[in-house]
Amino acid sequence: MEYRIPLIAGNWKMFKNCNEAVDAATQLLDLVSDIENVDILIAPPFTSLAVVSEVVRNTRIDLGAQDIYWEKEGAFTGEISAPMLISAGCQYVIIGHSERRQYFGETNETVNKKIKATSSSGLIPILCVGETEAQRDEKKTFSVLDKQIEKGLEDLTFDEHHSLVIAYEPVWAIGTGKSATPEQVQEVHAFLRDMIEKRFGNMLAKATRILYGGSVKPENVSELMALPDVDGALVGGASLNPDSFSKIIHF
Ligand code: 13P
Repeated sequence: MEYRIPLIAGNWKMFKNCNEAVDAATQLLDLVSDIENVDILIAPPFTSLAVVSEVVRNTRIDLGAQDIYWEKEGAFTGEISAPMLISAGCQYVIIGHSERRQYFGETNETVNKKIKATSSSGLIPILCVGETEAQRDEKKTFSVLDKQIEKGLEDLTFDEHHSLVIAYEPVWAIGTGKSATPEQVQEVHAFLRDMIEKRFGNMLAKATRILYGGSVKPENVSELMALPDVDGALVGGASLNPDSFSKIIHF
């Protein structure tokens, strides 16, 4: 029987200083004390990881980073490595978010290096993929996603794939209040699962969690989570407020 534990992840992007992050994590912890069978993740900015890890250690809430560099250490000013994230208490890393692709020169090639470094360190990568509005209008959605997955996961072994999470985030739905429709989401998620099956086989395809992200809110989360190939959500804006994020976790 196929069963994937849902994962609800909050990407805090460049919001909250250390005190605000600790406060939000503390409030959230209290609000989700009744939750079972849902994995919960928050991804604060790098600067708050260590202090937030003190709040969530050994609780239902896991900790994630929003990016990573593939080398372990060295003269790479401004970058953060897998061993550093592990020592700050992280279990997950968001990789290839569209904002990094759009504003910071992230490519499918750098995404691939980051995925490999993350998997081999024991951290769980969340690979973000998604098309822009122009690409959807030009009917290029599936070719864009195909390339992001093929290149992003190039040379990844079965074992390295094992813990991978995929997040489908259509760029036009991020921060716009305009979520993709359930039909659009299910169509893409089924396509992505099919791609994983062709590359890694049926067992891994059934085990891989595919999250949806893009204007997820308390009001639309349950219809999205009811879709057969949606295994969770990657939430931006609505994850910043513990009350609304808790409502999403209680979908
Ligand atoms: P919003 O939920 O604010 O649309 O952001 C989605 C996102 O980018 C999560 O990574």
